Amino acid sequence: MSENRTFDLTQAPPVEEPARQYYYMEKLRGLVADQSKELGRPLTASVVTFGCQMNARDSEKLKGILREAGYQEGSEEDADFVIYNTCTVRENANNKVYGRLGQAQSRKRNHPWMKIALCGCMMQEPEEVEKIKKSYRFVNLVFGTHNIYKFAELLARTFDEKMVVDVWKETDQIVENLPVERKYAFKSGVNIMFGCNNFCSYCIVPYVRGRERSRRPEEIIAEIKKLADDGVTEIMLLGQNVNSYGRGLPQEISFAQLLRQVEAVPGIRRIRFMTSHPKDLSRELIETMAASDKICRHLHLPLQSGSSRILKRMNRKYDKEQYLRLVEDIRRAMPDIALTTDIIVGFPGETEEDFLETMDVVRRVEYDSAFTFLYSKRSGTPAASFEDQVPEDVAKDRFDRLLALVQEIGRKKAKALESSEAVALVEEKNAQDPAMVTGRLDNNSVVHLKGSEADIGHYIPVRLAECRGFYYIGERLS
Ligand code: 5AD
Ligand code: SF4
Repeated sequence: MSENRTFDLTQAPPVEEPARQYYYMEKLRGLVADQSKELGRPLTASVVTFGCQMNARDSEKLKGILREAGYQEGSEEDADFVIYNTCTVRENANNKVYGRLGQAQSRKRNHPWMKIALCGCMMQEPEEVEKIKKSYRFVNLVFGTHNIYKFAELLARTFDEKMVVDVWKETDQIVENLPVERKYAFKSGVNIMFGCNNFCSYCIVPYVRGRERSRRPEEIIAEIKKLADDGVTEIMLLGQNVNSYGRGLPQEISFAQLLRQVEAVPGIRRIRFMTSHPKDLSRELIETMAASDKICRHLHLPLQSGSSRILKRMNRKYDKEQYLRLVEDIRRAMPDIALTTDIIVGFPGETEEDFLETMDVVRRVEYDSAFTFLYSKRSGTPAASFEDQVPEDVAKDRFDRLLALVQEIGRKKAKALESSEAVALVEEKNAQDPAMVTGRLDNNSVVHLKGSEADIGHYIPVRLAECRGFYYIGERLS
């Protein structure tokens, strides 16, 4: 998905996008070639990704640009250029980045030509950027989530300037048709929208990813058609809140309608999406999923808390009963659907009773798996100034109890499918056993089966012969 264009580099760069970025990619090819001549070897780059699927997809875009610029892929430990694509959803995500930055600095001391870039959500926080400008002078480039499409242009500037910092507060621009380097040949994420308007009171995402913007359906379908032509059969539609897809677009379109358009693209066999906000999950979506044999039988439906009182303080706009009713509707339409969730414990003001409501929902819904998080105070969010913060030891104790319950239920749910038949899309060679490969089922469970590299990207019928905790050992049926 790239277009090689040639430009007269002595002329001023084009003003319009994406032509401007292709101009800078060409310019970079020259700069990178000069430097590799000096070093007597190709230049390498490594993109280190923290956080969610959105960041993973952004990293594929960065890698596409790096490839066009002439970099070869290297590892974090020895690359000439290291890019940290950061996350800031919880405090420990920030700490991790500073740790890794320290290691990169000591390597740069012995390799002065080395470049270091920081981008992603953490860079949208002005205090972090100030800290880097002041105490991390060895960083060459800082940019944010809104101008990631300008990576080539900003990188070209680092060949003349010591430190380039360009972070935008907000954007309404979506630049299409830039190069992408996919991690997998047979599956791909596709952004359908950017940003979030929900302002859950604990969450920093709306501040760092900006207001919700939907991509036009024609652009999305064109991208998916290109991916399908390229051999991709599984698509993951990405957005912070896919259920509100379409708001603000000139034509009226719902997320369910978009899904039906994706289903109609020849060659696409599996469709996933992430993330659904329970408040916006429509009847139309449930019906569309139930009627489809391509939309996977898996729904990630973040609960956050089972207490209606806490949900109100979280600004989630649904209560415990509404959530449970929604799950009932989903299960009635699709009894075999796998449900997963996100839960925060220790939100300010959470009492033992509130926590027990969360445990109650977990018991009643019986999630196939759940991501559990200790509440992390994010400055600038409303919850950071709530007075009744929960003591750490209390939160930790609740976290441990919740995790134990989630795991017990997860094991039970996985065990129930033992001996049944399913289809695995093989994703990679097994890291431990060279005679095995690893795949995913429609319901997102992981299965290991005998096989070789030739199976990667293929759909293989299996019997889930043995359940080992949360994953299976499968026997091939063909
Ligand atoms: N503290 C803990 N967990 C959080 N999440 C978002 N913000 C916070 C926070 N401040 C969790 C939510 C969300 C997931 C991606 O991260 O559960 O769904
Ligand atoms: Fe954060 Fe809530 Fe938006 Fe999810 S829906 S990104 S939790 S503000």
